[in-house]
Amino acid sequence: MAIRLGDTAPDFTAETTEGTIKFHEWLGDGWGILFSHPKDYTPVCTTELGEAARLKPQFDKRGVKVIGLSVDPLDRHAGWAKDIEETQGTALNFPVIADGERAVSNLYEMIHPNASETFTVRSVFVIGPDKKVKLTLTYPASTGRNFDELLRVIDSLQLTANYSVATPVNWNDGDDVIIATSVSDQDAKEKFPNGWTTVKPYLRLTKQPDKAAAAASE
Ligand code: BEZ
Repeated sequence: MAIRLGDTAPDFTAETTEGTIKFHEWLGDGWGILFSHPKDYTPVCTTELGEAARLKPQFDKRGVKVIGLSVDPLDRHAGWAKDIEETQGTALNFPVIADGERAVSNLYEMIHPNASETFTVRSVFVIGPDKKVKLTLTYPASTGRNFDELLRVIDSLQLTANYSVATPVNWNDGDDVIIATSVSDQDAKEKFPNGWTTVKPYLRLTKQPDKAAAAASE
């Protein structure tokens, strides 16, 4: 059965470019992002891994550990890593699972037989500190993912985990947010002392709570 939001991310032990990793132990108490690449030495994957490496400081800033996966063995990962550094200008700086036996790919249902019997689709799993799956994405092999979007989603997930808000369409960190409909106007006065705008009773916009104090003092 497919992995759904709120499920516990399946644990596994795997060989990676940074040694053997026990997934839950490696995640520790922080956030994690696991993403699959169909195959080594392929063009789209090469650009994606370079970009993920370039953005590693952004993931670090958010307390998110990054781990990739491809169904090729470690020695191929090592050769490919050289190409990634050479062509993308950033060396790999996070582990990539060598999933030759497809153990993790099958556990996470990253192989979709109608797309390919052999290679994974481009899956993304964002995992919270409670080890629950917070987001899943599935892209076809021919479409590279947008890693800025992954950072944007993580910003939203981390914000909404801490405050009674939701983020509207095309939201970016710092934009106004929506007060959760579960919060009454009475309770909102306490939770959002800087106030809000009622567009409709079910659509109340307020400053991003963790930025509101700074905005008020400007
Ligand atoms: C790629 O990464 O470029 C790719 C991988 C598998 C199928 C198609 C493209």
